Amino acid sequence: MDLHDISARLGVPVEEVERVHRLAGDRPSAPLPARADAPALLDRLAVRPDDAAEIMAGWPDPDSPSWTPELRWLLDRSSALVRADLGGYDWLSPGPELPRDRGPAWRHLYVYGFLALVDVVTEFHREHGIAGPVSWATLADLGRNLAIDRRMDREGWAVMQSWLTLHARGGLYELGRLQHQRGGEAIDLHIPDAGPLTPEAVDASLDEAREFFPRHFPDEHYTAFSCGSWLLDPQLRDYLPEDSNIIRFQRRFVLQPYVAQDGPDADVEVRRFAFRTLSTPLDQLPRRTVLQRAIVDHLTAGGHWHWRHGRFPI
Ligand SMILES: CC(C)(COP(=O)(O)OP(=O)(O)OC[C@H]1O[C@@H](n2cnc3c(N)ncnc32)[C@H](O)[C@@H]1OP(=O)(O)O)[C@@H](O)C(=O)NCCC(=O)NCCS
Repeated sequence: MDLHDISARLGVPVEEVERVHRLAGDRPSAPLPARADAPALLDRLAVRPDDAAEIMAGWPDPDSPSWTPELRWLLDRSSALVRADLGGYDWLSPGPELPRDRGPAWRHLYVYGFLALVDVVTEFHREHGIAGPVSWATLADLGRNLAIDRRMDREGWAVMQSWLTLHARGGLYELGRLQHQRGGEAIDLHIPDAGPLTPEAVDASLDEAREFFPRHFPDEHYTAFSCGSWLLDPQLRDYLPEDSNIIRFQRRFVLQPYVAQDGPDADVEVRRFAFRTLSTPLDQLPRRTVLQRAIVDHLTAGGHWHWRHGRFPI
């Protein structure tokens, strides 16, 4: 099967198939865990029973008719592509976005790719002296993302499939309340959907990172924490109380000047993170919390939200 056939059968642009082919080359992929070990592994990765059942139903057994040659090619080469960048920390797409409504093989192809890399990345963690609890807390973001994807009626996976390659390459660690992404000179902070963002929890996570990175990545020298997020938009101060966790989080950062298009479209991202829908019309979005009312009122009045970048010294 040539790359044009693969792209036609997958229904994706040939350039995306060529990209996977180019980046993966003939490098090794990683074997999937044994089917018998998968339920315990999914449980460890915080995958909820409904998602785990789907993943098991679509398992890429050698004789599974759902796994056509083009899907097997993509799973194998996509895992090889991600594995080839083990230790990397930049955003990386594992391959083309696939339709989500063609059954579990299509829907969860990149989940199987992630599962194949669990052994590879935990070995990388061990080589860096990183203890099991941090490995598993980090990798359990898979279950969280699958649950959110379900809540979002499968609208959000295109971002998540790239996001999860950070975890699978050892580029990101969940230390208490925050996720910390390795980088050039700054550790980039991410905020998982995991309850309130209290200042105490943030302080504890930052303290943990201050010890973690010099110990486990002694060749990397970090001088700052950084963050890019809708959460850093100062316009939120017009709506949220001064003592809200988001405003208190904002106050830690010195913002870089706003540059339009420097990051994702914040009008979309606020919908993702505060409503978990990208397609519900503005006038049908819920108005249950101060933040939700702020977002809807601001957009209804013709305003826009901004994706802002900030940092503060370690
Ligand atoms: C970041 C986060 C934990 C902050 O939540 P928090 O600690 O409750 O924040 P605040 O104290 O500032 O909340 C102020 C108000 O906004 C509401 N609010 C905050 N985040 C909300 C969210 N994601 N969705 C809906 N309402 C939210 C709170 O309920 C509160 O309103 P209320 O007083 O009417 O109940 C939360 O927004 C969240 O889980 N977001 C998803 C992950 C995310 O956005 N990550 C960043 C990606 S770039």
